Amino acid sequence: MRDKIVAGNWKMNNDLAQTEDLLGNIKNELKPKEGVRVIVAPPFTNLYHAFESLRDRPVDVAAQNMNENKSGAFTGEVSAQMLTSIGVKTVILGHSERRAIYKETDELLAKKVDAALENEMEVIFCVGEELHERKAEKHFDVVRTQLEKGLFHLSAAQWEKVIIAYEPVWAIGTGETASPEQAQEMHAFIRKTISEKYGQQVADEVSILYGGSVKPDNAQEIFAKEDVDGGLIGGASLKAGDFLAIVNAF
Ligand code: PGA
Repeated sequence: MRDKIVAGNWKMNNDLAQTEDLLGNIKNELKPKEGVRVIVAPPFTNLYHAFESLRDRPVDVAAQNMNENKSGAFTGEVSAQMLTSIGVKTVILGHSERRAIYKETDELLAKKVDAALENEMEVIFCVGEELHERKAEKHFDVVRTQLEKGLFHLSAAQWEKVIIAYEPVWAIGTGETASPEQAQEMHAFIRKTISEKYGQQVADEVSILYGGSVKPDNAQEIFAKEDVDGGLIGGASLKAGDFLAIVNAF
Protein backbone atom coordinates (compact mmCIF):
# COMPACT_ATOMS: atom_id res chain seq x y z
CA MET A 1 0.00 0.00 0.00
CA ARG A 2 1.27 3.46 -0.82
CA ASP A 3 1.89 5.97 1.97
CA LYS A 4 -0.53 8.71 2.91
CA ILE A 5 1.56 11.85 3.36
CA VAL A 6 1.04 15.37 4.62
CA ALA A 7 4.06 17.58 3.93
CA GLY A 8 4.45 21.20 5.03
CA ASN A 9 6.38 23.44 2.65
CA TRP A 10 7.36 26.41 4.78
CA LYS A 11 8.92 28.28 1.83
CA MET A 12 11.00 31.33 2.93
CA ASN A 13 9.26 31.65 6.29
CA ASN A 14 10.33 31.26 9.94
CA ASP A 15 13.60 32.26 11.55
CA LEU A 16 15.16 30.04 14.21
CA ALA A 17 12.96 31.20 17.09
CA GLN A 18 9.81 30.82 15.00
CA THR A 19 10.98 27.39 13.90
CA GLU A 20 11.47 26.32 17.51
CA ASP A 21 7.97 27.55 18.33
CA LEU A 22 6.24 25.89 15.41
CA LEU A 23 8.05 22.58 15.83
CA GLY A 24 7.37 22.66 19.60
CA ASN A 25 3.66 23.03 18.93
CA ILE A 26 3.65 20.33 16.27
CA LYS A 27 5.48 17.96 18.61
CA ASN A 28 3.11 18.63 21.52
CA GLU A 29 -0.09 18.32 19.56
CA LEU A 30 0.68 15.66 16.96
CA LYS A 31 -1.26 12.46 17.42
CA PRO A 32 0.51 9.95 15.20
CA LYS A 33 -1.85 8.18 12.84
CA GLU A 34 -1.17 4.74 11.52
CA GLY A 35 -0.25 4.91 7.84
CA VAL A 36 0.04 8.71 7.64
CA ARG A 37 3.52 10.19 7.20
CA VAL A 38 4.14 13.75 8.29
CA ILE A 39 6.95 15.80 6.71
CA VAL A 40 8.08 19.38 7.33
CA ALA A 41 10.27 21.36 4.93
CA PRO A 42 11.84 24.39 6.66
CA PRO A 43 14.37 26.68 4.95
CA PHE A 44 18.00 25.48 4.77
CA THR A 45 19.10 27.45 7.84
CA ASN A 46 16.68 25.56 10.08
CA LEU A 47 17.03 22.04 8.71
CA TYR A 48 19.65 20.90 11.18
CA HIS A 49 17.68 22.24 14.12
CA ALA A 50 14.50 20.64 12.78
CA PHE A 51 16.15 17.29 12.30
CA GLU A 52 17.62 17.29 15.81
CA SER A 53 14.40 18.48 17.38
CA LEU A 54 12.27 15.85 15.60
CA ARG A 55 14.73 12.98 15.99
CA ASP A 56 12.52 10.96 18.33
CA ARG A 57 9.23 11.94 16.66
CA PRO A 58 7.42 10.45 13.67
CA VAL A 59 7.98 13.56 11.58
CA ASP A 60 10.44 13.62 8.65
CA VAL A 61 12.38 16.68 7.55
CA ALA A 62 12.73 17.70 3.90
CA ALA A 63 14.71 20.37 2.06
CA GLN A 64 12.89 22.65 -0.38
CA ASN A 65 15.56 22.51 -3.07
CA MET A 66 19.16 21.45 -3.70
CA ASN A 67 21.90 21.73 -6.29
CA GLU A 68 22.51 19.01 -8.88
CA ASN A 69 26.32 19.05 -8.48
CA LYS A 70 28.40 17.17 -5.94
CA SER A 71 30.48 20.14 -4.70
CA GLY A 72 32.57 23.00 -5.97
CA ALA A 73 32.33 26.62 -7.10
CA PHE A 74 28.57 27.10 -6.91
CA THR A 75 28.21 30.06 -4.59
CA GLY A 76 25.07 29.97 -2.49
CA GLU A 77 24.15 26.39 -3.31
CA VAL A 78 23.65 23.27 -1.17
CA SER A 79 24.36 19.68 -2.26
CA ALA A 80 22.60 16.39 -1.62
CA GLN A 81 25.56 15.16 0.38
CA MET A 82 25.38 18.19 2.67
CA LEU A 83 21.72 17.50 3.31
CA THR A 84 22.16 13.81 4.05
CA SER A 85 25.09 14.63 6.36
CA ILE A 86 22.64 16.44 8.68
CA GLY A 87 20.06 13.67 8.46
CA VAL A 88 17.81 15.14 5.74
CA LYS A 89 16.75 12.37 3.37
CA THR A 90 13.92 14.02 1.46
CA VAL A 91 13.94 16.94 -0.96
CA ILE A 92 11.20 18.85 -2.79
CA LEU A 93 12.20 19.39 -6.42
CA GLY A 94 10.50 21.28 -9.24
CA HIS A 95 8.24 23.45 -7.12
CA SER A 96 6.47 25.91 -9.43
CA GLU A 97 8.15 28.82 -7.63
CA ARG A 98 11.55 27.32 -8.49
CA ARG A 99 10.44 26.73 -12.07
CA ALA A 100 8.92 30.21 -12.53
CA ILE A 101 11.13 32.53 -10.45
CA TYR A 102 14.47 30.72 -10.71
CA LYS A 103 13.90 29.40 -14.23
CA GLU A 104 14.54 25.78 -13.34
CA THR A 105 13.97 23.72 -16.47
CA ASP A 106 12.82 20.12 -16.84
CA GLU A 107 16.37 19.22 -17.93
CA LEU A 108 17.92 20.77 -14.81
CA LEU A 109 15.32 19.07 -12.63
CA ALA A 110 16.15 15.67 -14.13
CA LYS A 111 19.77 16.24 -13.02
CA LYS A 112 18.67 17.25 -9.53
CA VAL A 113 16.51 14.13 -9.30
CA ASP A 114 19.54 12.01 -10.25
CA ALA A 115 21.75 13.72 -7.67
CA ALA A 116 19.15 13.13 -4.96
CA LEU A 117 18.66 9.46 -5.84
CA GLU A 118 22.42 8.85 -6.08
CA ASN A 119 22.56 10.02 -2.48
CA GLU A 120 19.67 7.75 -1.53
CA MET A 121 17.37 10.66 -0.92
CA GLU A 122 13.65 10.61 -1.53
CA VAL A 123 12.23 13.17 -3.96
CA ILE A 124 8.91 15.02 -3.80
CA PHE A 125 8.64 16.02 -7.45
CA CYS A 126 6.20 18.84 -8.21
CA VAL A 127 4.23 19.14 -11.42
CA GLY A 128 1.33 21.40 -12.37
CA GLU A 129 -0.07 23.67 -15.02
CA GLU A 130 -0.55 27.42 -15.11
CA LEU A 131 -3.98 28.99 -15.44
CA HIS A 132 -3.64 29.86 -19.13
CA GLU A 133 -2.62 26.27 -19.83
CA ARG A 134 -5.72 24.92 -18.10
CA LYS A 135 -7.92 27.42 -19.90
CA ALA A 136 -6.43 26.25 -23.21
CA GLU A 137 -7.09 22.63 -22.07
CA LYS A 138 -3.40 21.84 -22.22
CA HIS A 139 -3.08 20.84 -18.55
CA PHE A 140 -2.75 17.11 -19.20
CA ASP A 141 -0.07 17.68 -21.85
CA VAL A 142 1.87 20.04 -19.58
CA VAL A 143 1.90 17.61 -16.69
CA ARG A 144 2.76 14.64 -18.93
CA THR A 145 5.75 16.54 -20.34
CA GLN A 146 6.95 17.50 -16.84
CA LEU A 147 6.78 13.85 -15.78
CA GLU A 148 8.47 12.57 -18.93
CA LYS A 149 11.32 15.07 -18.91
CA GLY A 150 11.91 15.10 -15.17
CA LEU A 151 11.41 11.46 -14.22
CA PHE A 152 10.97 9.05 -17.10
CA HIS A 153 14.69 8.38 -17.45
CA LEU A 154 14.56 6.57 -14.08
CA SER A 155 14.47 2.82 -13.70
CA ALA A 156 11.35 1.21 -12.24
CA ALA A 157 13.27 0.43 -9.04
CA GLN A 158 14.18 4.10 -8.55
CA TRP A 159 10.49 5.00 -8.33
CA GLU A 160 10.47 3.64 -4.80
CA LYS A 161 12.04 6.95 -3.78
CA VAL A 162 9.69 9.20 -5.76
CA ILE A 163 6.60 11.02 -4.51
CA ILE A 164 4.64 13.24 -6.90
CA ALA A 165 2.99 16.51 -5.87
CA TYR A 166 0.39 17.82 -8.28
CA GLU A 167 0.16 21.56 -7.70
CA PRO A 168 -1.87 23.56 -10.20
CA VAL A 169 -0.02 26.89 -10.23
CA TRP A 170 -3.28 28.86 -10.22
CA ALA A 171 -4.18 27.32 -6.86
CA ILE A 172 -0.91 28.03 -5.02
CA GLY A 173 -1.24 30.71 -2.37
CA THR A 174 -4.31 32.12 -4.12
CA GLY A 175 -7.00 30.73 -1.86
CA GLU A 176 -8.40 29.02 -4.92
CA THR A 177 -8.27 25.22 -4.83
CA ALA A 178 -8.81 22.68 -7.53
CA SER A 179 -12.12 20.95 -6.85
CA PRO A 180 -11.77 17.44 -5.46
CA GLU A 181 -12.97 16.21 -8.87
CA GLN A 182 -10.31 18.22 -10.75
CA ALA A 183 -7.64 16.90 -8.38
CA GLN A 184 -8.84 13.30 -8.77
CA GLU A 185 -8.97 13.64 -12.56
CA MET A 186 -5.35 14.81 -12.75
CA HIS A 187 -4.08 12.35 -10.15
CA ALA A 188 -5.68 9.47 -12.05
CA PHE A 189 -4.09 10.80 -15.25
CA ILE A 190 -0.66 10.96 -13.57
CA ARG A 191 -1.01 7.40 -12.29
CA LYS A 192 -2.11 6.18 -15.73
CA THR A 193 0.82 7.96 -17.39
CA ILE A 194 3.23 6.29 -14.95
CA SER A 195 1.58 2.90 -15.47
CA GLU A 196 1.91 3.17 -19.26
CA LYS A 197 5.65 3.63 -18.88
CA TYR A 198 6.44 1.48 -15.82
CA GLY A 199 3.47 -0.87 -15.35
CA GLN A 200 0.57 -0.86 -12.93
CA GLN A 201 2.51 -2.04 -9.90
CA VAL A 202 4.93 0.89 -9.93
CA ALA A 203 2.05 3.31 -10.56
CA ASP A 204 -0.01 1.89 -7.71
CA GLU A 205 2.86 2.31 -5.25
CA VAL A 206 3.56 6.00 -5.99
CA SER A 207 2.06 8.49 -3.54
CA ILE A 208 0.55 11.45 -5.39
CA LEU A 209 -0.04 14.52 -3.22
CA TYR A 210 -2.26 17.48 -4.05
CA GLY A 211 -1.00 21.00 -3.33
CA GLY A 212 -2.61 24.41 -3.71
CA SER A 213 -4.52 26.21 -0.95
CA VAL A 214 -5.22 23.08 1.08
CA LYS A 215 -6.82 24.15 4.37
CA PRO A 216 -8.39 22.35 7.33
CA ASP A 217 -11.84 22.93 5.87
CA ASN A 218 -11.16 21.48 2.40
CA ALA A 219 -8.55 18.79 3.14
CA GLN A 220 -11.00 16.04 3.98
CA GLU A 221 -12.94 16.10 0.72
CA ILE A 222 -9.76 16.33 -1.36
CA PHE A 223 -8.02 13.51 0.55
CA ALA A 224 -11.13 11.35 0.21
CA LYS A 225 -10.50 10.97 -3.52
CA GLU A 226 -9.15 7.62 -4.61
CA ASP A 227 -5.91 8.78 -6.22
CA VAL A 228 -5.12 11.59 -3.79
CA ASP A 229 -2.64 10.29 -1.24
CA GLY A 230 -2.19 13.46 0.78
CA GLY A 231 -1.09 17.05 0.43
CA LEU A 232 1.80 19.43 0.03
CA ILE A 233 0.76 22.33 2.21
CA GLY A 234 2.17 25.87 1.99
CA GLY A 235 0.43 28.66 3.91
CA ALA A 236 -1.54 26.40 6.22
CA SER A 237 1.61 24.56 7.31
CA LEU A 238 2.84 27.68 9.12
CA LYS A 239 0.27 27.29 11.91
CA ALA A 240 0.57 24.11 13.94
CA GLY A 241 -3.19 23.94 14.54
CA ASP A 242 -4.06 24.17 10.86
CA PHE A 243 -1.30 21.81 9.78
CA LEU A 244 -2.30 19.15 12.31
CA ALA A 245 -5.98 19.55 11.44
CA ILE A 246 -4.97 18.73 7.86
CA VAL A 247 -3.02 15.68 9.07
CA ASN A 248 -6.12 14.63 10.97
CA ALA A 249 -8.26 15.01 7.87
CA PHE A 250 -7.30 11.45 6.96
P1 PGA B 1 -0.26 26.89 -0.58
O1 PGA B 1 1.11 26.41 -1.21
O2 PGA B 1 -0.79 25.77 0.27
O3 PGA B 1 0.06 28.13 0.20
O4 PGA B 1 -1.19 27.18 -1.73
C1 PGA B 1 1.30 25.08 -1.63
C2 PGA B 1 2.69 24.92 -2.19
O5 PGA B 1 3.19 25.85 -2.85
O6 PGA B 1 3.34 23.87 -1.99
